[in-house]
Amino acid sequence: RTRSHSSASTVGTPFDKLGVIGLGLMGHGIVQVAATASSSSSSSSSSNVHSEVIAYESNASYLDGGRDRILSSVERLVSRGKLTSNDAESLLSKITYTTDRDALDDADLIIEAIVEDVELKNDLFKDLGSRCKSSAIFASNTSSLCVTNMAIASGRPDKFVGIHFFNPVQLMRLVEVVRTEYTDPTVFEDVMGWVGHIGKVGVSCRDTPGFIVNRLLVPNLMQAMSLVERGDASIGDVDLSMQLGAGHPMGPLHLADYIGLDTCSFIVEGWVKDFPNDASFYVPAILKQKVERNELGRKTGKGFYHWDGDKRGDPV
Ligand code: 3HC
Repeated sequence: RTRSHSSASTVGTPFDKLGVIGLGLMGHGIVQVAATASSSSSSSSSSNVHSEVIAYESNASYLDGGRDRILSSVERLVSRGKLTSNDAESLLSKITYTTDRDALDDADLIIEAIVEDVELKNDLFKDLGSRCKSSAIFASNTSSLCVTNMAIASGRPDKFVGIHFFNPVQLMRLVEVVRTEYTDPTVFEDVMGWVGHIGKVGVSCRDTPGFIVNRLLVPNLMQAMSLVERGDASIGDVDLSMQLGAGHPMGPLHLADYIGLDTCSFIVEGWVKDFPNDASFYVPAILKQKVERNELGRKTGKGFYHWDGDKRGDPV
């Protein structure tokens, strides 16, 4: 089932106050996109999506980092003429930055986007389950962990879904909405409607490893690494092939660097552990080596390519 923005925008949004926990690579983008849809002149629906977007981080330096990420993305859009200064101001005014967890207590929808650590996530949802109002819906942006476990930890599995965005959240239109066997169908429909309200296209998936996109994409990235590891083709030729031969916007090795080789490795390692009999889940030696050497791609300046900030250089 897919929902376009236009078809979903006729559905009333039940989420007045949104909380986003974690303002890293994904979380800051989620805050920005939700605030954009909630600022009057940018919103394509007549009613604003949220009266307030609470951007929560556990400590002040992470909070500052998240705010900086949002500001630099907004400035980029303004400088390229994709957003007016008024709209920028309006969207930024929707965001409340806080390290005070109490601010989430009366949120209607809370999306968690912290590190992919199952214990941390379960503890967080347990706490949210005890402090937040009973009607609040909880969601995790996890890309590879089991949504059902978190749903149970929250104490309100009927009001729990996965809401999985893609990097960069500001540009990628897809959102996977993941339902568990406990998810209330009305909750699922409300979340699908919300995805449309924030200008994204929602697809539905059951709680399975990698959902749809990562289940197909990540093994493909591993195969690309294996091609290079065996010496079958060069990094540049593998990427060029998938761009010009398969129409992908970025080749797989470029994309792996863009996502972060630690993240790629972490995702597959978890699957190898949980699903040892699935041959499409394996970690190539070249990936292990790069992660051990802290060559993590864009974020450390070197991976399969050299990087200068966001700018990709030559293959390594
Ligand atoms: N905020 C604001 N603007 C941004 C931005 C951001 N975070 N990131 C990029 N932009 C802008 C750029 O400034 C540029 O603006 P301009 O056209 O006015 O110059 C515009 O977006 C396009 O960017 P680029 O020129 O750098 O490059 P592209 O045209 O190639 O587009 C891309 C970039 C959309 C990232 C495209 O290359 C792409 O689609 N790549 C594949 C991304 C992908 O597969 N993502 C999924 C990863 S998997 C995942 O996220 C799942 C997770 O669980 C692991």
